[in-house]
Parts: sequence; structure tokens; C-alpha cells
Amino acid sequence: MEKFIIEGGRQLYGKIEPSGSKNSALPILATAILAESPSVIHNCPRLTDIETMRELLHYLGVRTEWVADHTLRIDPSDLSSYEAPYDIVRRMRASVCVLGPLLARFKRAKVSLPGGCAFGPRPIDLHIKGIEALGADVTVEHGYVNAHAERLKGTEIYLAGAHGPSRGATSNVMTVAALAEGETVIYDSAKEPETVEQVKFLRAMGADIEGEGTGTIRVRGVNKLKGAEFSVMTDYIEAGTYIVAGAMAGSEVEVVGDVAENLKPVLARLSETGCKLKVSDGSVIVKGHPRPSPVNITTAPYPGFPTDMQAQFTAYLSIGEGTSIITEKIYPDRFMHVQELARMGADIRREDAVAVITGVEKLTGAVVMASDLRASAALVLAGLVAEGETHIRRIYHIDRGYERIEVKLAGIGARIERVEED
Ligand code: EPU
Repeated sequence: MEKFIIEGGRQLYGKIEPSGSKNSALPILATAILAESPSVIHNCPRLTDIETMRELLHYLGVRTEWVADHTLRIDPSDLSSYEAPYDIVRRMRASVCVLGPLLARFKRAKVSLPGGCAFGPRPIDLHIKGIEALGADVTVEHGYVNAHAERLKGTEIYLAGAHGPSRGATSNVMTVAALAEGETVIYDSAKEPETVEQVKFLRAMGADIEGEGTGTIRVRGVNKLKGAEFSVMTDYIEAGTYIVAGAMAGSEVEVVGDVAENLKPVLARLSETGCKLKVSDGSVIVKGHPRPSPVNITTAPYPGFPTDMQAQFTAYLSIGEGTSIITEKIYPDRFMHVQELARMGADIRREDAVAVITGVEKLTGAVVMASDLRASAALVLAGLVAEGETHIRRIYHIDRGYERIEVKLAGIGARIERVEED
């Protein structure tokens, strides 16, 4: 296993470029199997999660090939299986995105239940509710979701759950509806930029679909879809992570990419902490601020503050001047980073879904453990400003969603090294 060693206290300066969005690419790769002809996906990030999705597609009989550094060709013409096995799904929850496309293509799908996740329960009841509404019979047996339909027929579906709309459920319902008979209206559909991008890809494939970004998506089923060429948007969460790095340790850091619109709630909160930002269409320039002023943050579905930036903000506010409160409304247990940050000297009290962060003057380097993707990112950020060396173990979590983060951060002056664990 590998770990990162970070020597804290180096000032960051210069340009850093996020890759294509993981959470946009994953459902798009799954959506590509709705067609019988190949798709070509540009700006696809090189990440272990993308490799896991490729492995799953290969299992299903789909051929994929990197035809350029970040361009993936997906050829579903020999799609031959409707089963997503436990051994792949357990490694990556987003595998469940193939449920809708498989059901649409075979009128049948067998997909392993993803199981628990480091930050608490992540049910798929809304996915099931959505495909049942479209005419599928669904049973859950022996750890698998089995879906079967004689006919898939459009209808009206109300998709929100207790924590708001679901991106994954919206993805599965849209993909089934795209090839179902008649019209489907999905109320309370996800509004996230990743969902908007998936709708654009579906449209490029020939789907009759509209309403992306509004919360109501309307789909008129067609008989057939064709492969399409598509370019994945910049990863705004990766960009947001580097912007926070700049806010914590930067003299001036330019994060390249058209990300400002998707990061509005994050940039607004950063400004409130006293950090100076220069926002343009093609980049965000951030000037560090020694100790951020406190802010209170509640995560929410888009356009609210993203849960995927919560851990990074926890690290940031832990060196603030005063007390900040973070309330996690999407995943009430997503606080694995708190105990690790405490090992570095952070003063954070957790009460259920709330973290009360009392800013400290400095963090100190320690050996810490990555537990999930964004928690790992938070530890990297903390390591950049901590006094002395931070060793982050189990960094395979970070490789799932950040492409060569150590190379990118080293490019703006961080001292960070990937080494084999002893
Ligand atoms: N939910 C249900 N029932 C369902 C599905 C979801 O109650 O059937 C709940 C979830 O438990 C959660 C909320 O609805 O409270 C939203 O979940 P959603 O389905 O939108 O999440 P997801 O599609 O499984 C994606 C991202 C996550 C991100 C969440 C929330 C991908 C591949 N994953 O997951 O990304 O945290 O949306 O925004 O797009 C990450 O990148 O680190 C990550 C975990």
C-alpha cells in the first residue's frame, strides 16, 4: 500500500488544473450502453473508479479502450450480460448506475446491492421505486436487486426522498425512460450539474428529454439510441478542493477551468471567511488568508452547499479564528475525517449530524488514515498547513477521485510525496 508524506508550511503559488469530473463521467459511461453503437468520451479522468466502471462494462460484454490520454471509446455492440456482480459493485457504489441501462436494453437486470459505505447507509429505495413505476417487477434476494419487465411504460414519478432528490435514482430512471414507451415525467429529479450533463449526453444519443436543472425532467421514449461523442465537464469538486488549498496555504493560486458557476455556494462561503477570490469564466484565482473568519454551513442538494466539499471545509475552518458550525444534511454520518483531524490538533466536537469547529492557531503533522475520498482530501489540505510531516495512509481512497493529486499540488509548490508504506 502507498501513503503520502506531506511537509507542511510551504506556500502555494501558480496554476493548477482539475481533471474531468468523476461523478459526471461514471453515469455517462453507464449510459453509453443504452446504444448499440460506440460512444467516444473526451476529458475522461484517469482514476481507479473509472477503471472499476470499465471492468464492470467488460464483464457485461462491452469493449472499452483508451484511444487517447483522456479519451475513452465504449463499444456496447456485444453487450451480452444483464448482471452486475457483487465483487465489482462492492468496490464502487456508482456501479448501480448500470441498473437502468441494463433494464432498458434487456428488460431484465440483476445488480448486486452496493452495501454500506464508510460514511453511513446509502439506500437505493428510490432507484427501485422509480423503475417499478416504469413497469418493472423488482425483488431483492440474496444480496441482489432483480428487475424484470414485460413492458416499460412512461408515467409520472415523484422521486425525492428524506434527504432530497437522488442523483443516482434520477440517472437510473432517466435511462429506463429514454427507451420506454410514451412519456415519463420525473418530479423532484436531481438538479446537480452532473445530472444536467447526463441529460445532454442522452440528447446527443438521440433521446427526447428536457428539463435538466429544473427539478422536473420530461422524457419521451424512443425505439433506439445511437452512440455519441461527448466531453466531460471539469471536476468542480476537485477544483473546489484546490481552491480551499489556495485559501489555506496560497499566496496566489489559479485554479483553471470553467467551474465558478457550479461552485457558487462554495465560493460565496469562502468569501465570507475573508478569502480573496477573482472569478472569471476560465478560472478562479484565490489568495490565501491566514486564519479564516468562522461561518456556519449546512449541506444541501444543488444549488446548496455540496456534501462533497464538507470535509475540505472542515479542515479549512479548523484553523479559523472563532467557532464554525457545519450541519451535514445529506449524509448525517459523513464525519470520518473529524477524528483524524483531531490527531493533527483540530478542535472539533461532533454532535450527531453537526460538527462544532473551534479554530486553532496551528495544526501539527501526524500519521493519519484516509477513510473515504473527501475525508482523504481534507487530510491532504490539513497536511499542507500543518507544522512538520503528515503521513496519510490508505491513499487508495484518494486515487478513486483525484487524478495524480500529489503531482498537481507539487506543481504549485507543495512538498508531497507518494511512497510505499513500510
Ligand atoms: N437516497 C435515498 N434513497 C435512494 C438514493 C439516495 O434515501 O434510493 C439518499 C442518500 O442516502 C442521500 C441522498 O439521498 O442522503 C442523496 O443521494 P444520491 O442518490 O444523490 O447520491 P449518489 O448518487 O449515490 C452522488 C455522488 C456522491 C455524492 C452524492 C450526494 C456519484 C458517483 N456519487 O452519490 O459522491 O456525495 O451524490 O451529492 O455521483 C464523492 O464523490 O465523494 C461522493 C460520495
